[in-house]
Amino acid sequence: RGSPPPRNPANQLTQRQLTNLRAPRRREARSAHVTSAIKASDHAEIKHSVSDAHVQDQEQYAEMYARSLEDPNGFWRDLAMQDFHWETPIPEQHHSYNFDVRKGPVFTEWFKGGKTNIAYNCLDRHVGDGHGAQPCFLFEGNDVGVDGAMSYQQVLEEVCRVANFLRSVGVKKGDSVAIYMPMVCELPIAMLACARIGAVHSVVFGGFSSDALASRIEDCKARVLLTCNAVKRGPKVINLKQIADRGCEVAVEQGFNVEHVLVYANDSAESREDTHMVPGRDAFWQDVIPQQASTAEVEWMDSEDTLFYLYTSGSTGKPKGVVHSTGGFMTYAATTFKYVFAAQPGDVYWCTADCGWITGHSYMTYGPLLNRATQVVFEGVPTYPDAGRCWQIVDKYQVKQFYTAPTAIRSLMRSGAEWVTKYDRSSLRVLGSVGEPINPEAWRWYHEVVGDGRCPIVDTWWQTETGGHMITPLPGAWSEKPGSASLPFFGVKPVLVDEKGQELEGEAEGYLCISQSWPSNIRTVYRDHERYETTYFAPFPGTYFTGDGARRDSDGYYWITGRVDDVINVSGHRIGTAEVESALVAHPQCAEAAVVGYEHPVKGQGIWAYVTLMEGVDSSDSLRKELVMSVRSQIGAFAAPDVIHWAPGLPKTRSGKIMRRVLRKIASFEEDQLGDTSTLADPGVVASLLELRGK
Ligand code: PRX
Repeated sequence: RGSPPPRNPANQLTQRQLTNLRAPRRREARSAHVTSAIKASDHAEIKHSVSDAHVQDQEQYAEMYARSLEDPNGFWRDLAMQDFHWETPIPEQHHSYNFDVRKGPVFTEWFKGGKTNIAYNCLDRHVGDGHGAQPCFLFEGNDVGVDGAMSYQQVLEEVCRVANFLRSVGVKKGDSVAIYMPMVCELPIAMLACARIGAVHSVVFGGFSSDALASRIEDCKARVLLTCNAVKRGPKVINLKQIADRGCEVAVEQGFNVEHVLVYANDSAESREDTHMVPGRDAFWQDVIPQQASTAEVEWMDSEDTLFYLYTSGSTGKPKGVVHSTGGFMTYAATTFKYVFAAQPGDVYWCTADCGWITGHSYMTYGPLLNRATQVVFEGVPTYPDAGRCWQIVDKYQVKQFYTAPTAIRSLMRSGAEWVTKYDRSSLRVLGSVGEPINPEAWRWYHEVVGDGRCPIVDTWWQTETGGHMITPLPGAWSEKPGSASLPFFGVKPVLVDEKGQELEGEAEGYLCISQSWPSNIRTVYRDHERYETTYFAPFPGTYFTGDGARRDSDGYYWITGRVDDVINVSGHRIGTAEVESALVAHPQCAEAAVVGYEHPVKGQGIWAYVTLMEGVDSSDSLRKELVMSVRSQIGAFAAPDVIHWAPGLPKTRSGKIMRRVLRKIASFEEDQLGDTSTLADPGVVASLLELRGK
């Protein structure tokens, strides 16, 4: 039969992937305005004192951190056993992993052999301890005045009813369930119901289009879909059910049939009578769920059984189904939540993220409930009906920890401080930031205006793949520097490497990798373990490669400089340039497209699309709109290009590779820094692109 092909094509891929990586850059490059702020901030340090924080100073941190790296097996077992119910206790030896592609298949195991259930730990445990009456969710609707609350007992009962419904339609342990819902309490309830019975949830952000929904449903083979008829986002009504129906049709065209659709009727957005239902397939939540029993048996899961899939964008190809498993994710999400937000049971916490993204999984649904927080669930947008909405909600519910993305901070900052100061914010203790680098100007506004200079800012760096916070301040434990995520969390060992994979010591700037396994690292890419290895472990063998660049300063603080691959981050939403390009070329009149990110004052990055039209087709405003529409319908409105730049040709090397560096410089109006263009097949292309761009 001959010898088998080498199992791991790591070395060739390393080379190919590395040539696609951008050199990590200093953040100073972003704009002149940001430059001065960052330079000044390297020295500016702000120290807070937080009396009830779990780590009081850097000494205590250093001791715990050292143990977490030297004895990960014991450190995490102690935390997991002390904080959670395990139906079968975790064995003494439970952890093993391999991050080195040269040594065989990459794998990770934590708490292997221990059996637990995350939904049980989020709900039953607290109810059993006598906290059933504590508010679990405080619901704030899109429109002012639409609100409600659910206690831990009520949430537990509703989760059991949904769990029973899922079982009644044949869902079993290991089956996939797709969830396409807006931010109503029923979304985390649906996730918890899946977890209770061992079904694997795959939440699809409500802003994705029907095509994007269909491809995710099809990839994970979800026979059951939970959705909502409609949602109000600011003044707009979005008819989710229509998009979901079309998504199911597209899935059928691709050969996959969704058999059951459960529809939560959101009466404040659309009446039930107006919702189109497919007989035999669709049922209203309000019709079938109340009939179910309010208790449901728990499925005890091995720690390494899969908890969820969450699709995320990469440099190439279609989105990857990131797989997270039960025990490691539970322990890490809960521990980071507790330490990073200095959380105490009963705290009122509010995260503005949507459950469609990882932040909504780790720090909406699971982390806070595992710590018995009371949390605000907000259906609307921060600027509706006005720019004071967030602070009005903080005041109304006396929110203690508030967690949002820099893009929201920048947009609220533009509306003026008076929208903030008219509300009482004295309940706030910790302010969090996530999703993209926070520029020092926004950091200071958040700190000084929102937090009155009293509250620590936790700038949390992490990713869908990491499951929880990786590099982040701990409130009050050490000084914060505006714009720096500061130091690694327990169990996280960051390393900076150069393009050859050589580790850089001390003050340095390079590719950010993690060299040891932590409990919630990505276990695999669903149905594509090879892609998992080549994406994350082949580029710098022996480590997990994050896709980000970073700088370490003389105090050991990390400054994330942003993605070094072809992923862009628009308003904290992660978008693969290849996905946008393929949506553009799907238009019959588009011959070729190349997409890059450029600095955007509110969104962080905007999407700049270079488009070459088919021979004989003239550019026009209506064609521009059609191209944008093509992206909206294939991905979603949040991925719509900000700029369509007509390109008679694209800058390519003689071997046909697009020189994205040149495109990025043109989009940033930095044509004076184009660098070496002598390898371009047709150097005249640059001049024509500049001419079409204008000044
Ligand atoms: O580039 C980093 C950026 O967001 C990427 C991960 O995106 P996603 O998987 O969608 O998860 C977002 C929520 C965790 C990272 O590779 N990023 C996230 N947080 C920060 C950040 N960049 C700088 N500072 C952060 N605090």
